[in-house]
Amino acid sequence: MTALAGARVLVTGGSSGIGLATARRLRRRGAVLTLSASRPGPLSEVAAALGADWVAADLGSPDGLEQLLRRARADSPDVVVHAAGIGLARRADETSTEEALRLLRVNVLAALAISAVVLPAMRSRRHGHLVFLGSVAGALGVADEAVYSASKAALAAYAGAVGLEGRAHGIRVTSVLPGAVDTPFFVRRGRPYGRTFPRAVSADHVAERIVSAVEHDRGEVVVPAWLRVPIVLRAIAPGTYARLAGRLG
Ligand SMILES: NC(=O)c1ccc[n+]([C@@H]2O[C@H](COP(=O)([O-])OP(=O)(O)OC[C@H]3O[C@@H](n4cnc5c(N)ncnc54)[C@H](OP(=O)(O)O)[C@@H]3O)[C@@H](O)[C@H]2O)c1
Repeated sequence: MTALAGARVLVTGGSSGIGLATARRLRRRGAVLTLSASRPGPLSEVAAALGADWVAADLGSPDGLEQLLRRARADSPDVVVHAAGIGLARRADETSTEEALRLLRVNVLAALAISAVVLPAMRSRRHGHLVFLGSVAGALGVADEAVYSASKAALAAYAGAVGLEGRAHGIRVTSVLPGAVDTPFFVRRGRPYGRTFPRAVSADHVAERIVSAVEHDRGEVVVPAWLRVPIVLRAIAPGTYARLAGRLG
């Protein structure tokens, strides 16, 4: 179990949506926060309200990533919540290499690189917790979100491996797999969430599950929990899952 009172926590994507809701909950638990995002305006405002430090850095650019890596190395956080992420509502054949590269830099490479710089100190302290914001899309592969789904699958596989590598060294890892969450994510990706089912859950609900997973050492959290049903169905009966997904969309 990771105690949060007094813990140093880095939340990437801490200026909005799930990252912001998680930061608020962590603050109430007494965590000492550093928040990052690319736009300094909204980030500095929320950081001031939470009494948090902040680092504005575009994780889609090598320089921005390097800036956050320097800060993460210096701060040596006890917990990192990797919540920075962008969507891309495009079919595979409509996605350019440049778009794919940017998405993979923000959604995958940044989390891998930040983890790599904080893990050595966590190992020597025999204590640390990494939280990765994956997605149900990464477990299922969602049509019209091919590269986004791939990015989240990569993150889940990485989280699984780091969890195994770290377990004997006191390092804990949580993969969070939300379905749709009511945040600015959809507007930013350029296509609103258009389904009536499943209904989007609140960012605060996801944040509650994240904080509880850190406190109680849960390796994987699906939000809402019933979305584990299609994940299990796909694993045990991929043909049936594909037929149903094709029919239901
Ligand atoms: N909303 C959903 O339905 C949903 C479902 C499953 C998983 N997720 C995942 O949950 C995570 C959080 O999403 P959200 O819904 O909270 O979205 P959000 O409200 O749009 O927040 C995204 C956060 O990431 C930051 N960010 C985006 N691009 C960045 C960049 N290039 N460099 C640094 N920071 C960047 C944003 O700050 P700036 O804009 O200032 O850069 C913001 O703080 C993402 O990884 C997303 O893939 C979301």
